[in-house]
Amino acid sequence: MAVQISPSILSADFARLADEAAAVAAAADWLHVDVMDNHFVPNLTLGLPVVESLLKHATLPLDCHLMIDEPDRWAPQYAEAGARNVTIHAEAVHAPVRTLRAAEAAHAPVRTLRAIRAAGARAGLAVNPGTSVEPYEDLMSEIDMLLLMTVEPGFGGQPFLDMVLPKLRRARALIGGRDAAVWLQVDGGIGEETIERCAEAGADVFVAGSAVFGSDDPARAVQALRAQAEHATAHAAWAWHNR
Ligand code: DX5
Ligand code: ZN
Repeated sequence: MAVQISPSILSADFARLADEAAAVAAAADWLHVDVMDNHFVPNLTLGLPVVESLLKHATLPLDCHLMIDEPDRWAPQYAEAGARNVTIHAEAVHAPVRTLRAAEAAHAPVRTLRAIRAAGARAGLAVNPGTSVEPYEDLMSEIDMLLLMTVEPGFGGQPFLDMVLPKLRRARALIGGRDAAVWLQVDGGIGEETIERCAEAGADVFVAGSAVFGSDDPARAVQALRAQAEHATAHAAWAWHNR
């Protein structure tokens, strides 16, 4: 699988989203949309109505990263709306159940992941920096992408956490070599200083917010990141051998 770049609009101008999407349309593979609910993470961004509007204007497929409680309730709707990838968080299983009846409160990742796929999208599973991937090994056949957060989710522009690199290597070993069915995405602090280490450790899909939309020329920033990631992948042991 070739390197893919997914610029995060979290660092874009929210009042000019269509223009910002257009600025990377020819250079990127995806448009990464961070949905935050101020419960799962201490920040609030946008939801389904904005995604629906963006779908009308953006030519890139949308990569929706749901940092929200109750993904069971919301995630399939993003897929039905037309998002090409919908990622839910493994930790949302610990979501508070305040307002829910017990039966509704049971977070059921398999059901949610299958509902995302049934609605025609790719299904992603995200884990925070402190969450191990091994407990989710049996879910690999249910997902199309595993997202390893390389910052604590919630905000753009945070420093990359290198403590995630050993987990990235383990995740790559778990899902297999370059022809693996599951894509391996990294998100948080990805830029020219860090992207090569992530590619070398096993990532093949790279989210970058501030490194792209904080740049004077977002398309050029995407091209430069892709070149770095491709170069590092070409020298990476994991990409040479299939499991
Ligand atoms: C953080 C978001 C990221 C964010 C990354 O919780 O999931 O997608 O936009 O921003 P940078 O690339 O600036 O770290
Ligand atoms: Zn994200």
